[in-house]
Amino acid sequence: MFAHEYAESVLLGPTLDDKLRTAPRELVDAPATAPGAPSVPSAPARDPSLAIATDRRAKRKVPSAIGFRDKAQAARILHGLANHELQAVELFAWALLRYPDAPRSFRRGLLRILGEEQIHLRLYLGRLEAYGVEFGSEPLSGYFWSKVHELTTPARFVAAMCLTFESANLDHALFLREQAVAARDAATAAVLQRVHDDEIGHVRFGAIWLRRLGGRERPFVDVWLEHLSHPLRPALARGDVFVEESRVKAGLDADYIDALRRAERPTALYRFARSANEQGPA
Ligand SMILES: [Fe+2]
Ligand SMILES: [Fe+2]
Repeated sequence: MFAHEYAESVLLGPTLDDKLRTAPRELVDAPATAPGAPSVPSAPARDPSLAIATDRRAKRKVPSAIGFRDKAQAARILHGLANHELQAVELFAWALLRYPDAPRSFRRGLLRILGEEQIHLRLYLGRLEAYGVEFGSEPLSGYFWSKVHELTTPARFVAAMCLTFESANLDHALFLREQAVAARDAATAAVLQRVHDDEIGHVRFGAIWLRRLGGRERPFVDVWLEHLSHPLRPALARGDVFVEESRVKAGLDADYIDALRRAERPTALYRFARSANEQGPA
């Protein structure tokens, strides 16, 4: 099987099983000029139960409540996290189709990360099941997919996906891990730690490739900003609680880290979790 055929099966297979199917070991990357060049869908195929919500429901915010200590809220948080992983799975598959001429080692990296995003999705689905909630029972936003038309080059893909969304997830995952620990949900805390640790590798992949593809002459942070389209910006590459150490582990330089440190980001997610903490231990 060719890499692009596998990517198509993930992107255009409508079921969760399709999204979660692991890549065959004997997968080969076809030459970029091979006949039957891959088509590039601009949206994933999804069963109706997993359809991306396009109405106001998609913008429904996690309410200011008591976070992980309220099981219904915890389930909604996990549902949102699973939805992010589903989109990540699909977007790394999409990237394999969108950039057929990218260096082979870049494409191998996309495939490796795709596999890890599948693991994350599986882990969150497992936690949702433990909470007795079915994936798709909440509206599924398509935020990452709404940015896909801007990802015209591999450099723009890693600038947005790895160095903005996945960078922000370094903070989100650790913060939510603390919430899960406080709520004595050790299984969810372990999943969030695993996702955070893998995410360091995904952000590192983005940093390495943006340097290679975007040029080494200018400061890395300038190259990153040039490859983003509004509204993507440093404030969206971090959480309220900024974990510098995770960026250092990902190999990011001082200028990038500074740009994130200076960007403020109050989010509803942190506000409600903080208000939960202020109510004292459950
Ligand atoms: Fe992930
Ligand atoms: Fe990731």
